[in-house]
This record gives sequence, C-alpha cells and structure tokens, in this order.
Amino acid sequence: MYSFVNMDLKNKVVWITGASSGIGEGLCYAFAKEGCKLVLSARRAEELLRVKQQTQLKDEDVLLLPIDLEKNSEALVWVQKVIEKFGRIDVLINNGGLSQKGNAMDTTLEVERKIMEINYFGNVALTKAVIPIMKKQQAGNIVVTTSILGKFGLPFHSTYAASKHALYGFYDSLRMELKPHHIKVLLVAPGFIKTNASINSLNADGSLSNENSPAQINGMETSVFARKLISALKSNRTHIYIGKKELLSVPFKMLFPNLFYQLMIKLSKGK
Ligand SMILES: NC(=O)c1ccc[n+]([C@@H]2O[C@H](COP(=O)([O-])OP(=O)(O)OC[C@H]3O[C@@H](n4cnc5c(N)ncnc54)[C@H](OP(=O)(O)O)[C@@H]3O)[C@@H](O)[C@H]2O)c1
Repeated sequence: MYSFVNMDLKNKVVWITGASSGIGEGLCYAFAKEGCKLVLSARRAEELLRVKQQTQLKDEDVLLLPIDLEKNSEALVWVQKVIEKFGRIDVLINNGGLSQKGNAMDTTLEVERKIMEINYFGNVALTKAVIPIMKKQQAGNIVVTTSILGKFGLPFHSTYAASKHALYGFYDSLRMELKPHHIKVLLVAPGFIKTNASINSLNADGSLSNENSPAQINGMETSVFARKLISALKSNRTHIYIGKKELLSVPFKMLFPNLFYQLMIKLSKGK
C-alpha cells in the first residue's frame, strides 16, 4: 500500500534535469530549501554553476552533472557518477525538454526525431538507468514534467504534443509495474509557466524560435510552480496539473471536444 504520511525531504538526494533554467532552476531553489542534496543536470555547465551558487548549498551537497539528453545511451554512466558522489538516488525529476513551433507538414523528420529523442527517449533512458538503484533501495520517487499538451494537441505543436502524450502512456504503465518495489511516479502537467520555453523552442527547420509568447510572459512564476510540485510529491499524488486558468482547457476538451477544437483553430489563426 502507498503511504498517506507526508514525505520528509530532508537529506534526500534529488536529481533534477533541465536545472539550468526555468522550471528546473525554480525546483533547485525549492528543494534546496527543503534540505535536500541536489544533482543538477542540463547541457550548459556554466548555467548549472550559477544555479548551484544561488542555492547556497555546500559543495558536498551538490553535484553538477552536465548531460545532453539527446546522447541518452550514456545514461548508465551518468547514474554511476551520482552513485559515486551520494551512494543513492531518492528522487529523479525528469524535467529537461524543449518545445516546437511549426506546421506539422513543414516540420522536418530530423526535428521530429530530435524532440522525441530529448523529450521522450532521453527521459525514459534516464528513468531506466535509475530504476535498478531505486529497486535496490526498495524506495524512490520519479517525477516527470509533461504538459497540458500531453492531454490534447494544438496547431503548430504536433511533435511537442506527441512527445508529451508518449510520456503519459509510458509512465502511467510503469507506475503500476513499480508499485511492488515502493517506487512512486508523479506526472506533473504544467499549464503556462513563466520561463524561456517559447524562446528556446525549435522552428519547423530546427532553428531556434527566439520569440517569447504572451502565454509564457504572463505564466505562473516558477517559485509558485515549485511549491505546488513539492506539495504533490510530499502527499504521494500520482498526477497534478499546475498553472492558472488555462488548466480549464483539460476538462473543457473532455466534456465538449468538438467545441474545443473549433475554438482552438480560431485562436491559433489569430496568432
Ligand atoms: N514553461 C511552460 O509553460 C511549460 C509548459 C508545459 C511543459 N513544460 C515543460 O517543462 C520542462 C522545463 O521547461 P521550461 O519551461 O523550464 O523551459 P526552459 O527554461 O527552456 O528549460 C528547459 C530546460 O531543459 C534543458 N534541456 C533542453 N534540451 C536539453 C538536452 N538536449 N539535454 C539536457 N537538457 C536539455 C535546458 O537546459 P540546457 O539548454 O542547458 O541543456 C533547460 O534547463 C520541459 O520539459 C517543458 O516541456 C513547460
């Protein structure tokens, strides 16, 4: 049985991917305040160092582990480095990822594969490399940042939505397989969070968008997001939506799918 007692995070080893900016960066500060030891991963080592310095954690409590999720065949080597430093992994937060903006037919297969490699295969490869450690511990928490676009599609985001839908299929199944080993899976679907996600998204040809979106600019602060995620983790939730009124789109789509899709076509034409 899952425990309904609130989880104590003090001294837990928490590995956060996508830690160099946005949601991941906000999570680093929030988990540091909880007294956790942190592993910070993303490609940009200098940004990981900046985040580490802001957490004010001691060197012995932080590991900077630059990784490229596209090179996910190296996942076992990454895990080994964490074990050498801390000897265990209590919480893995699979948060690193990138978005896409482009008509489906214009988006090259190369871009499709890149996004799936990072958002889906990179995520899954890391989880598969960590699970044997958590099985030995007979304890562990895996947290996955999906998206409300894991629950429905939108024009010009087909690949991104596909990658986030795929995460739901994988982790909803995996959660049941891991239950006998006391490993828990929490899926977190953000709405619009104030980060550089739009700026960092790929265009149809693979170039960087470099354009922000009003949704992102007016989105939820990462510090608020992090507090809500931690509260869901502590109370052993299996799924949570975090955002503002855009979250209403999920029940709206379920209840009135035809109306929902008509509205989304209209809204996206106005862009
Ligand atoms: N912001 C939102 O409104 C929103 C909504 C729904 C879902 N999400 C999801 O939230 C997660 C975090 O995004 P964010 O909003 O915080 O955007 P962000 O500021 O652009 O952060 C993305 C993070 O992912 C890392 N990353 C990207 N490609 C990587 C790769 N190949 N290997 C390793 N790390 C990589 C980036 O670090 P480097 O560039 O240093 O590698 C960065 O730390 C993503 O999975 C995103 O899909 C965000």
